[in-house]
Formats: sequence, structure tokens, C-alpha cells
Amino acid sequence: MTSSTENKIPYQADYWNEDGGNRWLNHLAWLEIMLAPLGDAMLNRAAARAGEAILDVGCGGGKLASRLAATVGTQGSVLAVDVSAMLIDRARMDYGKTPALSFRLADAATADIGSGRFDLVCSRFGVMFFADPLAAFINVARAMKPGARLVFICWQGKDRNPWMFEPAGAAFEHVPAPPPPAPEDPGPFSFGNPDRVRGILDAAGFNGISIEPLTGSLNMGRVDHALEFVSTMGPAAQPLAEAAPDARARAIAAVRAVLAARDTPDGVQMPYATWIVCANKR
Ligand SMILES: C[S@@+](CC[C@H](N)C(=O)[O-])C[C@H]1O[C@@H](n2cnc3c(N)ncnc32)[C@H](O)[C@@H]1O
Repeated sequence: MTSSTENKIPYQADYWNEDGGNRWLNHLAWLEIMLAPLGDAMLNRAAARAGEAILDVGCGGGKLASRLAATVGTQGSVLAVDVSAMLIDRARMDYGKTPALSFRLADAATADIGSGRFDLVCSRFGVMFFADPLAAFINVARAMKPGARLVFICWQGKDRNPWMFEPAGAAFEHVPAPPPPAPEDPGPFSFGNPDRVRGILDAAGFNGISIEPLTGSLNMGRVDHALEFVSTMGPAAQPLAEAAPDARARAIAAVRAVLAARDTPDGVQMPYATWIVCANKR
């Protein structure tokens, strides 16, 4: 594990500094394409303005933060934080010279990210990994000006996101499935329950909370590409890597069949469901 000198990194930081970060990096170019429409929807709701001070939580490869920086201009600023050293390194490499943009290796849940300084806090799929979401959002709220906007996008529950679980489920007919996390365990689907999200944000000091669905299809590319993606990222990746060759071959064939059934002239289309969450710091 890579350790940060800025804060003691707990829990999911291990994952994002090891397998999770490696997988995200390996697929970064495609993830940016696949998730672009979802990021656009979030940015539309965020309506960043010139001169604003913005925090991007869990910035990953930094592309979305660079777009925010272009919007705020040199009178504004964007601080993009991520708990993964390898992702922050990559973000700095790709966008480190962008005016008004700075990257910091930090756990947004616990790091001192200041008080009363941000007009807007954004996150595309970066806030569902907090071990203690209430404490984390209290920390984030402290860094915001009174009335400042919080806008993030997160996944709805697993059952509403077959893009991840339908192909993996086919694989698990042939290779052992990892134990499923509880619905509220930190991870991509931990904010599936909007009542829970609302309760956390209310208790953390936010009002004007809106939680709106955004659903559609993720384009996972051609079948071969989608197969490579599903086999090396997400819940089936590790079980497939560890499987005996014959079981692996059967699992791969089953995943391919699922993806082929969703193929279209534009590529494999898999349904997704997200929440776009907006709130204001009280
Ligand atoms: C699903 S990725 C999304 C990355 C990026 N926002 C995007 O949309 O491309 C989640 C990111 O959140 C980061 N992350 C997870 N927990 C975090 C925390 N407590 N503080 C800061 N970043 C965190 C991970 O390292 C990872 O880069």
C-alpha cells in the first residue's frame, strides 16, 4: 500500500492504492468516454461559474476537474483531491499545468481541507466509499461557504445497475463469487437508498436536498472490448484471474453471451441508474 504523509489513509484507500487504482488507470481512457454523459449531467446541475472556488472529491484521473478549472478561470480555483496516489500522479501528469487547478493526495473524509472556502463541491462517483459518511460529509461541509452547493452523482442500488452485475453474474455461474457486500457497506452502491443519503446530508449540515434519478444505457463498446472490460474490472475481475483455466474459459463464454445479447450497431448497451444529488450547506 502507498501511504500518504498528509493523513492516515484508512479502509478503501487500500483498494484505491492497489487493485482499484490499477484497474481504474488501466481503463482510464475508456472510463472517461463511458462516463462522460453522466459527468456532463452532473456538471449541468452544478452550473459552475467563473471565479468560483470548487472542490472535486475523488477526482480520479482529473479530467472533470480540468473542465471545472476551465470554467472558473484564473479568478477561481479548483482543488481536486483523491486518496489514490497513482491516480493523483496521473492527474498531475495529464492536467497538472492547468491554470487554477491543483491536485492533492488526501482523504476527503478526514483531511483538513479548510473551512468556509468552497462555493461548490462536486463529485462524480467519488463519495460512496467513505467508511463513515456522516463524519466525511461534516468534514466536507466545514470546508464550504454558507449556502455553497454540493452536487454529486452516485449509483442507485445494485439491482438497478445490470451493467455491472449481469455480466458478472454470468461469470459466477462458473467461478466462485466473492461474498457480496451489505448494501450500505462503503463501495460503489452504498448510496443506493435515497432516504439514507438524505439523512446523512441533513445530519451533516445540508438543506435544499434534491435526489433525482438519471438513468440510461452505458455504451461498453464492441463485444470484445466490453468483455475485456468486464473481465478485468468490477466484481468478476479477481475471481476470473484466480480461476482454473477451464472454469475461466466457461465463465468468459457466458459473459460474452450476455454482452452479445445487449449488442447494438453502436456497441454493447447496458442499463444503468444513478442519483444526481444536490444540496446546500446550511
Ligand atoms: C469510481 S472512481 C471515480 C473517479 C472520478 N471521479 C471519475 O469520475 O472519473 C472513485 C474515486 O474516488 C477516490 N476516493 C475514494 N475514497 C476517497 C476518499 N475518502 N477521499 C478522496 N478520494 C476518494 C478513489 O481513489 C477514486 O479515484
